Amino acid sequence: MNKTIAVIRGDGIGPEIVGEALGVLDAVAARFHHSFIYREAPMGGCAIDEFGVPLPDSSLETCLHADSVLLGAVGGPKWDSQPSANRPERGLLKLREAMGLYTNVRPARMFADLASSCPLRADIAARGIDFVVVRELIGGVYFGSHSTAEENGEQKAVDIMSYTEHEIRRVAHVAFQMARKRRGRVTSVDKANVLDTSRLWRKTVEEVAKEYPDVELLHMYVDNAAMQIVRDPSQFDVLVTENLFGDILSDEASQITGSIGMIPSSSMGEGTRGMYEPIHGSAPDIAGQDKANPIGTILAAAMMLRYSFDMAQEADTVENAVDAVLKAGYRCGDIMGEGCRLVGCREMGRLIREQI
Ligand code: IPM
Ligand code: MG
Repeated sequence: MNKTIAVIRGDGIGPEIVGEALGVLDAVAARFHHSFIYREAPMGGCAIDEFGVPLPDSSLETCLHADSVLLGAVGGPKWDSQPSANRPERGLLKLREAMGLYTNVRPARMFADLASSCPLRADIAARGIDFVVVRELIGGVYFGSHSTAEENGEQKAVDIMSYTEHEIRRVAHVAFQMARKRRGRVTSVDKANVLDTSRLWRKTVEEVAKEYPDVELLHMYVDNAAMQIVRDPSQFDVLVTENLFGDILSDEASQITGSIGMIPSSSMGEGTRGMYEPIHGSAPDIAGQDKANPIGTILAAAMMLRYSFDMAQEADTVENAVDAVLKAGYRCGDIMGEGCRLVGCREMGRLIREQI
């Protein structure tokens, strides 16, 4: 198969980790006789430096015309003083919206070989961590109007949070369908005791649930959910929630696995084109030092193979290669454990390619 992949290397450690993921994709192409064509799409701080804006039109076009998008990470302190409409993050939001990527899926799974990195009490970790956060990605307060203005002699800022039924319904369907392929439980997270958007969320999710009588639906307030994720993560299978809550809970969910550097994510809309990225950030403090863990990005590439290109065997091969390298005791700094062998970003990439 021939596939065109838009490549957003981004900022900080982005270029290093993406470089290793492309190396792995090349190895997959060679072994399975595919051809992957990479098209560079500068975005983020590097695009601000070069083009003055975080998402140049040419990059947007490249992404819209590709079969899928692979992203490293964007942002960093260098661009913190940019006006809010021109921050690196804006590029990412604009791209998600333009591509119609309304569902973000972030698995929180503890790798058996990395259980010792789990920050939770051993008896809690022993019950296992294996759930997915399904986050609505192009609605809510992220995409409402934002303003800051003078009022009564002081500054006042306003961010509008809104949701329509169809925005809720489409992501709820994704969650229920996913639960069907997993352990059959959806936990919908909201703040329905306070917010109108949450009351509409809950009502709409309940309506969608009628189409999935085989899936169990629970509702949970977001504050309680934040607590339950550390108290007993084993209770979750598919957790579905709105944009801002999902942003927060997905960071929490990934951290309890002890390996935020290992976790990939997918953003999808209608159709098969998606955007795939590790869930961690651009880590400017270790950029350019060959210290970053490329596994999150490599597993994101595996997700792309599986969900956008329908290449299940190829995806399995990449995931098995990662498992094998971990089993052999190789670790990057973020997941280093006793008796393991510390390797850099490039060496980790090479070891994984070697398994393919
Ligand atoms: C994420 C990030 C982004 C978000 C930022 C960079 C805009 O935190 O992908 O979770 O908040 O969605
Ligand atoms: Mg986030």
